[in-house]
Amino acid sequence: MMTTMPDTVEALLPAELLDFLLCATPEAWCDAALANQELLLIDHAQCEKKAASTAMSLMYRYVDRPLLLTKMSQLAREELLHFEQVVKLMESRGVAYHHISASRYAEGLRSHVRRDDPDRLIDILIVGAFIEARSCERFARLIPRLDDELAKFYRTLVKSEGRHYEDYLMLARHFAAEPIDERIDFFAARERDLIEAPDTVFRFHSGLPAAA
Ligand SMILES: [Fe+2]
Ligand SMILES: [Fe+2]
Repeated sequence: MMTTMPDTVEALLPAELLDFLLCATPEAWCDAALANQELLLIDHAQCEKKAASTAMSLMYRYVDRPLLLTKMSQLAREELLHFEQVVKLMESRGVAYHHISASRYAEGLRSHVRRDDPDRLIDILIVGAFIEARSCERFARLIPRLDDELAKFYRTLVKSEGRHYEDYLMLARHFAAEPIDERIDFFAARERDLIEAPDTVFRFHSGLPAAA
């Protein structure tokens, strides 16, 4: 079950991505993830499906931005492929897919999205960058502690979610009329709070396990 791979978070993730996030995932969350691997897989499947759906909703709303359309179409296809891969893995492990509530995380970030465009688009793209970056970081933290099959799968996800983080950030800067650093700092602080504050529910993006 446990393997001795040389992977470290620093080796798996670009320094820029680690800098983007204001905090590391708490050790207690990693422990909870290892103890709740079935739930982790089910919520992971949900997240991939939601990621594709978010990308597609941007394609419906912002039809006049070709770069956004192309990037979001590619991203939606990749997320759906990830979804298929998780579902297949769940099936091979006998994990039953059932409905579970979403974690507070994505909604906690989206609640700060400004209402009117273009601010709305910029905020959604920044939030997308944080969700992708955090997903990437969590996969990387779990890799050294997982079985070979899951570790191998997560290594491929670290690469693609890392690219998604870069794409979202690039698009946010591309479409913004002015620098967005302050807005990034704002969401970074909200994101850290959601990761570090006690959370009663365990999910892929949940906060500090309340029992810890
Ligand atoms: Fe994905
Ligand atoms: Fe992604």
